[in-house]
Amino acid sequence: MAEFPRGFLWGTATAAHQVEGNNYSSDLWLLEHLPQGLFADPSADACDHYHRYKYDIALLKGLGFNCYRFSIEWARIEPESGRFSRAALDHYRRMIAECHAQAIMPMVTFHHFTAPLWFAMEGGWENIRSVDWFARYCEQAIKALGDLIPFACTINEANIPLMMTLMRATGKPNDVIARNHQLAAQRTGGQRFSTFLTGDGQAATPHLIAAHRKSYDVIKAHTIAKVGMTLALNEFQAAPGGETLCAMARSQINTQFLEAARGDDFVGVQTYTRVQIGESGPLPPEHGAERTQMDYEFYPEALEATLREAARDAQTRLIVTENGIGCADDQRRIAYTERALKGVTRCLADGLPVDGYIHWSLLDNFEWLEGYGPTFGLVAVDRVTQARTPKPSAYWLGAIARAAQSH
Ligand code: BGC
Repeated sequence: MAEFPRGFLWGTATAAHQVEGNNYSSDLWLLEHLPQGLFADPSADACDHYHRYKYDIALLKGLGFNCYRFSIEWARIEPESGRFSRAALDHYRRMIAECHAQAIMPMVTFHHFTAPLWFAMEGGWENIRSVDWFARYCEQAIKALGDLIPFACTINEANIPLMMTLMRATGKPNDVIARNHQLAAQRTGGQRFSTFLTGDGQAATPHLIAAHRKSYDVIKAHTIAKVGMTLALNEFQAAPGGETLCAMARSQINTQFLEAARGDDFVGVQTYTRVQIGESGPLPPEHGAERTQMDYEFYPEALEATLREAARDAQTRLIVTENGIGCADDQRRIAYTERALKGVTRCLADGLPVDGYIHWSLLDNFEWLEGYGPTFGLVAVDRVTQARTPKPSAYWLGAIARAAQSH
């Protein structure tokens, strides 16, 4: 694996709400429990990673990886506005220390889709005060954890609310979302209710960008960590007649955020597929094209394209902070990842500053609105016993990671 530089990060990723379980104080916990709600399943115990993190870190280490990207949960750290839980911060301190003890590089995300319920009751990211609230939380967290953090991601996929709003990627009609928000507001007595995944992306975007900038400074003031945000980057391709719309989608959903990442230490590239845009909007995958469990086109070459796009528009270092596939047939995960990695090596050969490849995900976990249906994990999780079983793809990718580190 001579094509990967020394020190390259080989990791797997998770996010707190998707794996920890019982995230009671979060906004999504409430939405998951509304009648006729938006979610296929409630997150429930998830993978009980909150208690099993030691074992899971040992698992990824044993497979051959050298990095673990995970998130700390704002809803646990600040369950009431302005009241910070020392116990929750201590928990994450132990978790990050465990990574160091096992010679795993921790990459810590401060916001991965979920927020405290109180924050959603105030309108979430649509409220301009979100910027200060998020920075206040980051400051408390970094003061408690900063000496142990080498890599920090402020907001995961800060561009996804806008992408979902523009492309209706949730597949849920707006009136169903509005009804759920109304019900949530009634139940909590909040005036308004909005979450990162279900809210108005147009309204949230300026606040998300401002929150990234402000939290970047706050985090930098307390650590020597490398700091960046991560972005959901589809490769947008124009079908005949769709050139103008495609250019607009790329510029709003990708370019404006990549440009906002200029001057950061890195930008996290998270790519799953391409989206072709026709005259009147996004087109479904072509007839006969292979589709993943998410109904995305099986198109691993998108990663190379978005790395090149990110290098051009963000002009900073790049880390693939997520890439992967929801599929039942693990051989397709290997085929997908092999082709995606070929794209990474072509970028490296051309001198692009790519510093790591972090696969989504370590575990089969709670896939947001889709519940426990899609399986993105290198490791299967028994939903009853929580037993972990590495799939062939875990050994395959782990062996590549190990070989690349030993050259
Ligand atoms: C998110 C993950 C999610 C994955 C697969 C990304 O958009 O950051 O939380 O599970 O894609 O859909």
